[in-house]
Amino acid sequence: MRQSSLVVVANRLPLDDNAAPDGACEWRRSPGGLAGALHAILEQAPATWVGWAGGVGPAPTLTDIGGLRLRPVSLSADELRGYYEGFANSTLWPLYHDAVQQPVFDRNWWETYRSVNARFAEAAAEVAEHAGVVWVQDYHLQLVPGMLRELRPDLLIGFFMHVPFPPPELYMQLPRRVELLRGMLGADLVGFQREQAAHNVAQLATKLLGAHATDDAITVDGRTVRTGAFPVSIDVAEMRALASRPDVLRQSEQLRHDLGQPKRVLLSVDRLDYTKGIEHRLTAYSELLRAGHVKVRDTVMVQVAVPSRERVESYQDLRDRIEGEVGRINGEFGRVGEPAIHYLNQPFARSQLAALYRTADVMVVTPLRDGMNLVAKEFVAAREDGRGALVLSEFAGAAAELPQAFLVNPHDVDGLKDTLLRAMSADPAELAARMTAMRDHLAGHDIQSWARAYLTALDHTGSLAERLAGDRAPAASVAWHR
Ligand code: ADP
Ligand code: G6P
Repeated sequence: MRQSSLVVVANRLPLDDNAAPDGACEWRRSPGGLAGALHAILEQAPATWVGWAGGVGPAPTLTDIGGLRLRPVSLSADELRGYYEGFANSTLWPLYHDAVQQPVFDRNWWETYRSVNARFAEAAAEVAEHAGVVWVQDYHLQLVPGMLRELRPDLLIGFFMHVPFPPPELYMQLPRRVELLRGMLGADLVGFQREQAAHNVAQLATKLLGAHATDDAITVDGRTVRTGAFPVSIDVAEMRALASRPDVLRQSEQLRHDLGQPKRVLLSVDRLDYTKGIEHRLTAYSELLRAGHVKVRDTVMVQVAVPSRERVESYQDLRDRIEGEVGRINGEFGRVGEPAIHYLNQPFARSQLAALYRTADVMVVTPLRDGMNLVAKEFVAAREDGRGALVLSEFAGAAAELPQAFLVNPHDVDGLKDTLLRAMSADPAELAARMTAMRDHLAGHDIQSWARAYLTALDHTGSLAERLAGDRAPAASVAWHR
């Protein structure tokens, strides 16, 4: 068994199951913030990524991506239901996102969540070198740090939560709240997107575990666990380069042409998820159309909503509702050849996303709650031209870093309408000033600096951070076989 000095453990490997009929597969990046962020720093790294490759049954054999080894973890159909669709995405996901959708508490899911977490911990223990570093990611694997510490006390263990960590009033609803908290605190350093999350965990550790806790450190069971905020980011250089490629600029011109050369293009790009506020946004837009504030003749809205977690009932219901609403709006306000909303329920290549970002006059990012929201950052990175307005929810982690966006409370539909109108009619000089400030921030806070900050905090020697987040070779496109 080959071992690595750095092991990343995440539910999902950074690839989408995209097999051709001959079994060959062009590796495609999974949509979703976590895979995108880590892929950018790890693709050339001498590391191993432990994760699920999608699908059920025996794990496929995967070849390395550059220096990155992939160690797939298998899931059975029952495990997929109980662990991924159930406890992770029907209990923890909604609860951690302010319960914007009612969390489901099903007692049958816990044991599967626990045993799948144990499988991930065992796989990580197998591939980690003596005294190596293991970096565990996100809410799917909250028990892994504690389990791994039992198996391999020699390791340095990090945990990063990509989603919000809820306030105690909500977390306390969890039937397995003590085990989950203790599991996460098995790490040496627990990182969050926002400082508020570290504060929430400190309060819970005091209350539930009798720990001595501050917002930076929690002492429990004779060990001290450090905590802190490390806001995740994007590969700014990659998006800037993509968005200024001549073919991408041509694609953007073509898109505008295909949209009928409107005066204004409004764009939203989300996973089709109830946390993203798509329904509130559609309501606001249709009310603007009805009131005549926006005319289909000169304004179009493009909503990209990539399919996500499609076997989970709440996601199926959401898709039905959104598609019904888009159909209703287009039926009521569209004209022949001029729909009010262009709805695209499909994955896109990075270059296509860059072309879309370059086409947008107003980027509408209005989640009801979001750990970070990388789409907002991608849009800013793509706008070398200094044009375009960003309408951003106050409830996205990104709002703390991008206060020059048009910030909005997406629950307040009237406020959302006003903000959309303000963004649509803003003076170009004002937009340029806002964009410059946001781009300046991003230039100093990209994905490499995120990894460096986290890994330096985890491993004081700093050698790991240097190796990973230093100069990298350009990304390669890699083909793999089943
Ligand atoms: P989340 O992590 O909840 O999915 P983020 O906004 O943080 O939300 O990250 C979404 C990521 O998925 C971004 O990197 C974005 O570019 C990518 N993405 C979104 N829609 C698509 C799509 N239709 N095709 C490919 N990638 C997409
Ligand atoms: C969010 C989560 C990630 C997850 C991604 C896509 O970004 O924080 O952990 O991978 O959504 O969701 P999926 O269920 O397709 O992995």
